[in-house]
Amino acid sequence: MFRGADDWNRIYEEESRPGWDMDGPTPLLAELLGEVDLRPGAHLAVPGCGFGHDAAELARLGFEVEAFDIAPLALQGAKARHGDSVRWRLNDWFTTDAGPFDAIFDHTCFVAMEPARRESYAQVTRTRLAPGGLWFGAAFHDTGDRVGPPFAVEREAMQALIRGAGFDLRLFRDATQSHPRRAGREFLWVAAKE
Ligand SMILES: C[S@@+](CC[C@H](N)C(=O)[O-])C[C@H]1O[C@@H](n2cnc3c(N)ncnc32)[C@H](O)[C@@H]1O
Repeated sequence: MFRGADDWNRIYEEESRPGWDMDGPTPLLAELLGEVDLRPGAHLAVPGCGFGHDAAELARLGFEVEAFDIAPLALQGAKARHGDSVRWRLNDWFTTDAGPFDAIFDHTCFVAMEPARRESYAQVTRTRLAPGGLWFGAAFHDTGDRVGPPFAVEREAMQALIRGAGFDLRLFRDATQSHPRRAGREFLWVAAKE
């Protein structure tokens, strides 16, 4: 069985600040924005936004942002922290009818999915993009001995998955600006819908 809304919401009930939350945007967002060419006002999505720091940062930078989470308490926390600069959507990324987007930023949503869901996640993400739209993000290639989520993904497997879902892989490299707790364990990608 896959983790659903109740499972994720329970974590937010039990922990006022879950372990993945960094209380601010990931430094990888700035690193990745240096690699993509997005016009001001572009329509962006952030799936699995949690407390919404990355989505709010993208809105602050002048993008039109919709952020998605399946857990009501995540969005409650996002609104409390960041107000209405972002359109917060209580939706399952697999079934939302939102989009099409110019770009989708993925930070610890893809790696939160059970590995059996990866292919459909990539395919669904592609359908949420406008032609030529970008899927860009970061993922762990190393989670140590930890039992997921997050689930580490090997670099070669990720490249094959991105291409197999119908994307042109524009950039793939190890991250250099990771949060110190994650340093040396993440890679970045930028892919365009073909
Ligand atoms: C590991 S957390 C990461 C949160 C945020 N991106 C961050 O880095 O702080 C994963 C988030 O994805 C959400 N999530 C899990 N499955 C989802 C789905 N199918 N659709 C939308 N959100 C989902 C969870 O509720 C959780 O908030």
